Amino acid sequence: MRDAEPSPRLAALLREREPLLILTGAGVSAESGLRTFRGPDGLWEGKDPAEVATPEAFRDDPVEVWRFYAARRKAAAAAAPNAAHLAIAAMESARPATMVVTQNVDGLHERAGTKQLVRLHGSLWRVRCVVEGREWEDHREDLGSLPPRCECGSLLRPAVVWFGEALPHEAWGKAAAAARRAPLVLVVGTSSLVRPAADLQEIALRAGAYVVEVNPEATPFSGLASERLAGRAGSVLPRLASLVRGRAEATA
Ligand code: OAD
Repeated sequence: MRDAEPSPRLAALLREREPLLILTGAGVSAESGLRTFRGPDGLWEGKDPAEVATPEAFRDDPVEVWRFYAARRKAAAAAAPNAAHLAIAAMESARPATMVVTQNVDGLHERAGTKQLVRLHGSLWRVRCVVEGREWEDHREDLGSLPPRCECGSLLRPAVVWFGEALPHEAWGKAAAAARRAPLVLVVGTSSLVRPAADLQEIALRAGAYVVEVNPEATPFSGLASERLAGRAGSVLPRLASLVRGRAEATA
């Protein structure tokens, strides 16, 4: 396993190549104190995703599903962006063509200042009327009695992607196009187990990108990655951002 120090080749690519594509998963928010999904303290540990993250679960018991999402909203609201989110936003400031594609719904990339963000799995901070299909931002700390309702009287649901549902069409289109054209891709804090999100790193590899995995644990993608940085996002990303910024400062 490679040490968390980036290779000279990666350092050169960070200085020279763009656009940069950064794919993130729950691990990028772990150091903000938010639980990932898999692993010993994961959200799916001892809980079947089918009970809280499927359209069927919502149809059968919307209150139980909303309890799960209300607790996640509360945890996310209490959390702050960590060094990894901030480093990613700094890379975008230095290289405005950078795109971040996240599976996360917690809003921490936005709060860190990332602008070019594609959310593959929706947002904890948006709701959708199940009848009208309208969707909007909802940052209420207290949702009142669960389940929350639309002014038309119908149920509201969290505007997140559940198992068995398609990804938002536009988001997927943008992400796949970015994966096909980015020469350098960072895959940060994802187990690479959930598709189609995990297809993006493979699309990028097939298109000839140099794809770097940042994760303290090995994943099914580790063997395919061009380079693996075994470390925590909060330590590795600031180092990578300083290499990107080095180039930006040199050309300023
Ligand atoms: P997972 O919980 O599957 O994986 C989190 C990954 O983050 C693991 O590979 C960890 O090793 C890694 N990790 C933990 N701490 C880290 C740190 N400090 N720095 C870097 N990496 C760290 O989360 P995702 O891959 O995001 O979908 O899960 C994908 C999807 O599965 C989620 O979007 C969600 C879930 O079911 C839906 O709800 C539709």
